[in-house]
Amino acid sequence: MSAEDLFSAAKTAMQRAYAPYSRFPVGAAVKTEAGTVHAGCNIENASYPEGWCAETTALGHLVMAGGGKVTEIAVVAEKMPKIMPCGGCRQRLAEFAADGAVLHLCDLDGVVETVPFSAVFPRGFALESGK
Ligand code: THU
Repeated sequence: MSAEDLFSAAKTAMQRAYAPYSRFPVGAAVKTEAGTVHAGCNIENASYPEGWCAETTALGHLVMAGGGKVTEIAVVAEKMPKIMPCGGCRQRLAEFAADGAVLHLCDLDGVVETVPFSAVFPRGFALESGK
C-alpha cells in the first residue's frame, strides 16, 4: 500500500465523521509494520469535551485488530490542508509509532508533505518500562 492509498483510507474515513458540532470532519489512517491499515474519523458529542479525534478512532481499530507498530500515518480534513494531529493524539500515536514512523500531511487531493513523526513529537512522555 502506497502513501496515496493510506491517504485514500483516511479520506474515506473522514466521510464517516460524526462532527455535527464543529462541522470539521477529519479522517486518519495508520499502517503497521505488518502492512495492515486502520482508519478512523472524529466522533463528537453534545457534551463537547466528550468527543474524540480521528486519530484516536484509528488507533482503537488498530488495537482491536490485534495491534502492531505504526510506520505511517495519514490525516486529512476537508476544511484544512495539512492538518496536524492535536497534542493529545501525538501522545497517543507515539505509543504505537515505530522508530522512523512518518506522518503524511494531506489536502483533499492527496499527500502534500511527509515528515518524520519524531519531528512533530520530540521528547514526548514515555515510561521507563515502555517501548
Ligand atoms: N480533530 C481531529 O479529529 N484530529 C485532530 O488532530 C484535530 C482535531 C477533530 C476534533 C473535533 O471533532 C474537530 O476536529 C474540531 O476540533
